[in-house]
Amino acid sequence: MTSVIHASDLTKIFGKSTAVDHVSFEVQGGEIFGFLGPNGAGKTTTTRMLTGVIPPDTGTATILGHDIRSEPVLAKQGFGVVPETSNAYMDLTAWQNLMLMGELYGLPRSRAEQRSSDLLGMVGLLERKDQKVQAYSKGMKQRLILAMALIHEPELLFLDEPTSGLDVQSTQMILALLRDLNRQGTTIFLTTHNMEEANRLCHRVGIIRAGKIVAIDAPEKLKTAIDRVHKIEVSFDREISGDALSGLNSVTSANRTGDKWQITTQDKDATIRSLVTFSQQNSAAIVTLNTLAPSLDDAFLRLTQEAQP
Ligand SMILES: Nc1ncnc2c1ncn2[C@@H]1O[C@H](COP(=O)(O)OP(=O)(O)O)[C@@H](O)[C@H]1O
Ligand SMILES: [Mg+2]
Repeated sequence: MTSVIHASDLTKIFGKSTAVDHVSFEVQGGEIFGFLGPNGAGKTTTTRMLTGVIPPDTGTATILGHDIRSEPVLAKQGFGVVPETSNAYMDLTAWQNLMLMGELYGLPRSRAEQRSSDLLGMVGLLERKDQKVQAYSKGMKQRLILAMALIHEPELLFLDEPTSGLDVQSTQMILALLRDLNRQGTTIFLTTHNMEEANRLCHRVGIIRAGKIVAIDAPEKLKTAIDRVHKIEVSFDREISGDALSGLNSVTSANRTGDKWQITTQDKDATIRSLVTFSQQNSAAIVTLNTLAPSLDDAFLRLTQEAQP
């Protein structure tokens, strides 16, 4: 396997804040690499540096063997980008947008036409090709932008939160297309703030928080770390001491919110069993019991803690 993206110590500072802080990672040919992080973590800034939109303050990156500073044009011939904000012209048709993209990459007209037909068919927009993009739904626009990014058959595709804010149908379609492209050999770098998406789609995931990478691993390993932070919300028909709850099987913390207790546990099943035993032994009936999926914040906190020596 060859390294398709090699980022080394990338740093970007805006005014007084460091948006991207010495970020290093590698993406191998054939991978789907997910760049996962909450809003403001530095995903877009990193993507923009890698794709030559803004220069890094320090650090270097090579894309497909080309340095992004000294050989940006060569690098750009080999990759396509689906940026965070749409790069399609709203007052042009889908077809015109694709032709324009073809020109930008120096494709012969006939080749651009052939590719555009194929791609529009692939993203389900062939019948709407002569409609202006402003009439498109958000999902249709995003599918067009994906087609535009693929016009020159890039071996590497960058996508910045490609499914953010999309309806379920467009989301599923885009994810399925990315899987197909990857099976045909395209390397994919994608940013997301959606843990499930990263888990389902990516071979490896890098987690970025406040400009720093806190973990890079296979999604299963990250998922295991994340799965260990579950919350249970429980209420009883009488007063219970927090200390008693904290002492139950696998519980890491018990906090009161209104008439309910929020319990963090490393093993949901074990804690629910011991809650039932506890309620029987103390003649305190359970009034409500809910399990809550770990929030992104819980997961990041957990991973950040685990990343510390
Ligand atoms: N052009 C800019 N000027 C000033 N600050 C910026 C600019 N772009 C991004 N930032 C800041 O850098 C940080 C990272 O932003 P961004 O890379 O967009 O994060 P993400 O894509 O993960 O949501 C944020 O605090 C954001 O406000
Ligand atoms: Mg962003």
